[in-house]
This record gives sequence, C-alpha cells and structure tokens, in this order.
Amino acid sequence: MSAVRVAMLGCGTVGAEVVRLLREQADELAARVGAPVELVGVAVRRPHKHPELGELLTTDSSTLVTRDDVDVVVEVIGGIEPARSLLLEALKAGKSVVTANKALLAEDAATLAEAADASGADLYYEAAVAGAIPLLRPLRESLVGDRISRVAGIVNGTTNFILSAMTATGAGYADALEEATRLGYAEADPSADVDGYDAASKAAILASLAFHTRVTSADVYCEGIRNVTAADIAAAREMGCVIKLLAICERIPGADTESVSARVYPAMIPATHPLAAVDGAFNAVFVEAEAAGQLMFYGQGAGGAPTASAVLGDLVAVARNRVLGGRGSRESAYASLPILPIGAVPTRYHVSLDVADRAGVLASIAGEFARHGVSIAAVRQTGDGSTDGSARLVVVTHAAPGEALAATVDRLAGLDAVRGVESVLRVEDLGRKGVTA
Ligand code: NDP
Ligand code: HSE
Repeated sequence: MSAVRVAMLGCGTVGAEVVRLLREQADELAARVGAPVELVGVAVRRPHKHPELGELLTTDSSTLVTRDDVDVVVEVIGGIEPARSLLLEALKAGKSVVTANKALLAEDAATLAEAADASGADLYYEAAVAGAIPLLRPLRESLVGDRISRVAGIVNGTTNFILSAMTATGAGYADALEEATRLGYAEADPSADVDGYDAASKAAILASLAFHTRVTSADVYCEGIRNVTAADIAAAREMGCVIKLLAICERIPGADTESVSARVYPAMIPATHPLAAVDGAFNAVFVEAEAAGQLMFYGQGAGGAPTASAVLGDLVAVARNRVLGGRGSRESAYASLPILPIGAVPTRYHVSLDVADRAGVLASIAGEFARHGVSIAAVRQTGDGSTDGSARLVVVTHAAPGEALAATVDRLAGLDAVRGVESVLRVEDLGRKGVTA
C-alpha cells in the first residue's frame, strides 16, 4: 500500500510532539492505518531553530500545502492568517486537513467546512478544544443520534489553575496569576486566557457541534476572571460553592422557537458538582443529552504531548479514510438556531451589598428586585451595624434574565442605603436539563 504523505505547518509546542510521535510510532501507525504515514515536509518561520528536521524544512508554506506528493496537511501554526488561506488552498487541492486551531475554527469554520465539502476532503480538529480529551468526535459522531441540551465545562487550564490556587490558599487574583506564570501555566501575556477569549473560541466550536448551528466567537458572551476576588471565593465557600470559569452552551426553549446560548464567565457551582473537583490546569466538560443523560469528559486540556495525541488521532482517522477511499463523518449546521443575547439568558445570581444597617433597608432593596421581576431565593446579613452602622447583605436570586438583574443592580447602586455593590456573581446549578428556571 502506498504511503499517506503528510505536510506539517508549524513545529512548535504541539508540532514538535506530533513529529516525535510520528517517528517513534511509525510501525504501529502504519499497521493501524493500513499504510505507512510519511512526513514529507514541515513549514516553519525560522528553520535554523529546527536542525533535526533537515531536508524536510521549508519556509514556503503555500507551495507545501499544494504539492502533488502531499495527501494530508496538519496545521499547528495557530492564529487566523496565514492559517486560513493555507488550509483553504490545501482543501481546494483535495488534501485532508487536521488542525488544532481553535481561533480559526471559532472565527470561520463555515468557510473551511464548505471548502472541505466542495473537494470531498476531511476536516478534523479534535485538538482545538480541551487538548487530549476526546470530546469533539463524541459530539460529532457518538452523540449525533441524540439531542444535546447542554455542554458546560472548564476548557481553559490557565484560569482553572489560578482559581484553584485562590480557592486552596485564599490568595488574591494577582498573587495566583504570578504563581501560574512562575510555574509556566500562564503566558507572559495572559490576556487570551484570563479574559476568557480562549474559552470563548472553544465554546463557539462546542455549541456549533452540539446544536448543529454555526456559532462563532463573536456570538459568545465573554467575561474573564480578572475581577474575581478572594472575597468572592470566600462568599462562594459560604454558599457551599466554588468559582470556576465556565464555558456554557445551552439549547434554550422558547415560545415559538428554540435558541442557543453560548457564554463564558466565572460562576459559582455547587462544591458537590463533578466539575467543582476539577483542580489545577485540568479541563473537564459535562454534556447533557436527552437520551444519554449526563456525561463527563476529563483530562489534560493543553501541553505538547496531550494535544499531539488528539492531532495523531485525527491524522490516523483521515489517513484511514484515504486508504479506504472515503471520507469521514462531517458536522452539520442545518438547524441554524438563533443566538440568544446574554441579557435574555436566565441565570441565578449572588449579589453582595454593603448596606446601612437600619429599619426599612431590606424592604427597599427587596422592592428593587421585585420591581424588575427578579425573584429572591435567599437573603443573608452579616455584621450588625454596631461599629460603623453598616452590614453586608447577600441576596441570592432565582433564575432571572441578565438584563433584569443588571437593571436591578443599577438601581440598587443608586439607593441611599446601599454603600456599595461589592460583587455580582452568577450561580449555575448545572444539574438540570435545559435552563434553570
Ligand atoms: P507554537 O507557537 O509553539 O508553535 C507555532 C509554530 O508555527 C512554530 O513552529 C512556528 O515556527 C510556526 N509558524 C508560525 N507562523 C508561521 C508561518 N507563518 N508559517 C510557517 N510556520 C509558522 O504554537 P503551539 O504549538 O503552542 O500551538 C499550535 C496550535 O495548537 C495553535 O492553534 C494552538 O491554539 C493549538 N493548541 C495548542 C495547545 C498547547 O498546549 N500549546 C493546546 C491546544 C491547542 P517557528 O518554530 O519557526 O517559530
Ligand atoms: N491556553 C490554553 C489553556 C491551552 O490554558 O487551557 C490551549 O488551549
């Protein structure tokens, strides 16, 4: 059987591990594929940094992806351009594509999928979400006969490391970030992780597959963890909760039509929920489907070798398809469900207020919640006003639309009795099918 010939774009953290595994496991991979898997070219920016690749190296990516002796292109460059143009060239030339590029897929999976459909080539990207964890293939293939109601999880290891450290030690955000940077978990510029953009890209990919609807990163509401304080972590603990940066993709029933919500934010979850036990840089994703019920996927969401494992899995799959002369299963986007704006998404909230401790204050605060149709589930006061006349009031609500809660908080901030709105955090039960009500 003639070899399946592979071109790689990029040979950094992930790419170098892909090359290592391809070389070390060449015989086993050939046996699994039914033909040798041969690396025929590697494009990088700075060839002098990769002496071990010798003759395979090129800086001419564009020529490499359309070469006649290439069957499959593996892209581990990252970013939107030139990755998008190169992959489109490759797909148009009939090459199968394996990519780990979440940013590109979250921005423009539709164009890539159309190009793959037009040429009958494979487009696989398991490594783009949650590194080593097999998650996209289960959504795209194993669960395709079911109806998924929610995909929610921890898909960013850096922020989970920081929040876990804050929870374990009581440290503030800045100290926990410093520790994450020192240990190599956070990058020198951590904004893609701590501001939630990395998780938002992954949420877009997950929502697209789960709900057969094109969702891009621009459709994902995104808040990061910069404003989470040690006091928030302590407040969560008082509630029997922990704070996690969640990516949540939900199917939301409506009167006339269903819609999709995709959002990323730090939220309190019950300490007894399986996601609460996911510590450090690990990822975990909780899937709820009508017939399957609840499923949990857990493992290493990043790192060279774990991510290369997912790339290799895709590479073997597309190589097998080549050998057998077919194409793998595709994603579908037939449902085209509308995206629900964050202001309309119902969630529970934990609102912490610094208030004057005197008669009538609780009534005036409760009145603002009532005026905006936000139902209160619990109220707790700490401090008795004996020292400076103030107390801390915590209000936990039932599920309420984001815009109603925001309007309530605006009004609360203007009340004489409210000295400060200390924090507003979402509370996610993640236990029930569909939306909490
Ligand atoms: P790196 O920055 O470590 O490596 C990028 C590689 O791409 C380098 O070899 C670089 O060349 C090469 N490159 C960059 N621009 C070009 C270009 N224009 N033409 C040719 N080569 C180019 O990235 P990672 O390996 O960390 O990430 C790769 C992809 O995998 C990204 O999409 C990322 O999101 C994704 N991913 C990464 C994970 C991780 O843990 N690192 C986890 C999950 C997904 P040179 O070496 O010469 O500089
Ligand atoms: N920066 C990501 C994380 C890894 O911290 O999980 C790549 O997706």
